[in-house]
Amino acid sequence: MARDGAAGEEAPVVSPTGDPEDRAVEAALRPKNLDDFVGQQRVRRQLSLVLEASRLRGRTADHVLLSGPPGLGKTTLAMIIAAEMNAPLRISSGPAIQHAGDLAAILSSLTDGEVLFLDEIHRMSRPAEEMLYMAMEDFRVDIIVGKGPGATAIPLDLPPFTLVGATTRAGLLPGPLRDRFGFTGHLEFYSTEELELVLRRSAMLMDMKVNSAAFSEVAGRSRGTPRIANRLLRRVRDWALVHGVDLIDARCAGAALDMYEVDAKGLDRLDRAVLTALITKFNGGPVGLSTLAIAVGEEPETVETVAEPYLVREGMLGRTPRGRIATRAAWDHLGLVMPANVAAAMPEDLFTVLPEGNGPEDNLAEDNSGITEWANTEG
Ligand SMILES: Nc1ncnc2c1ncn2[C@@H]1O[C@H](COP(=O)(O)OP(=O)(O)O)[C@@H](O)[C@H]1O
Ligand SMILES: [Mg+2]
Repeated sequence: MARDGAAGEEAPVVSPTGDPEDRAVEAALRPKNLDDFVGQQRVRRQLSLVLEASRLRGRTADHVLLSGPPGLGKTTLAMIIAAEMNAPLRISSGPAIQHAGDLAAILSSLTDGEVLFLDEIHRMSRPAEEMLYMAMEDFRVDIIVGKGPGATAIPLDLPPFTLVGATTRAGLLPGPLRDRFGFTGHLEFYSTEELELVLRRSAMLMDMKVNSAAFSEVAGRSRGTPRIANRLLRRVRDWALVHGVDLIDARCAGAALDMYEVDAKGLDRLDRAVLTALITKFNGGPVGLSTLAIAVGEEPETVETVAEPYLVREGMLGRTPRGRIATRAAWDHLGLVMPANVAAAMPEDLFTVLPEGNGPEDNLAEDNSGITEWANTEG
């Protein structure tokens, strides 16, 4: 079945990474200060302490590392840090810094107290990373001029600045880099109640009339991710506009999201296709990734990176050395009864093998050592 054309988008409506439309509208929805930032109590409290202390000392704040899955508020927090420090913000990202010279250019143009936000910091090149160590610690860089034996290092003092790094893969960050951050905040997925607050705020900013039941309807389908919640809210708004609905209730919200094939648990068409194939064609598994991908007519990589992380997180899909298996929760969700012999064959330690990581992405990168079929395909 083709993706719903009405969505008019490349990425699935439940993708946690931002698309161009998100970038265009997100700026308007970002909370501007810590008090408006919903949830993440622990990170918020710790961060506000770090910022308060630096204000009292009259110095720039310690370097801050923000880690966690996409769409949970890392960029937003970086902007809030700059705003709370009353400091200008410079934005760049790991992939944009391929040469040490790229980083040197940025660092040498920083002003006193500026906040430098480096998104996807784990994707910076090695030489740039090493230059960053020294900049973070001593506010100094060595600019190398020339090549070979004639090369000389010209030391350059930098103004004090605060580095805010963001990463979806804290596990991939080299220890020396991680150690140079004075504070690390790990963002967690949001509860449904927290997402309702995010949605309330967004609906107000977007001038939408939405009742409480509709907020929980949308929140429940948002996979614990504010970016997805806001995107689904926009889809609901479109639907209401086309259908001439003024006050959005749970039924409207449900109907709109059903049309975009996002179900009550936030699963989309591909997620359900994977579970359905796993259960109806392979009796719940185990089955290898590539076989499963063929059964749903997708690339293995799509199944692995797009569908699986959330299914694993929801406890519906297990990854074992012998292949993928559908758990009881998956059978239940599809309204099917798990046969007794299948239940008996389920490994008991299905979920204990997942390391505590930084969300589904990290699990993908780090827990695959036992899975021969698709381990090391990248390297
Ligand atoms: N705690 C929060 N409260 C309110 N809105 C949030 C929160 N976290 C994220 N958002 C919203 O979700 C969207 C994505 O957040 P962003 O900071 O870009 O995520 P990340 O950088 O982690 O991928 C933004 O538009 C922001 O408005
Ligand atoms: Mg971001």
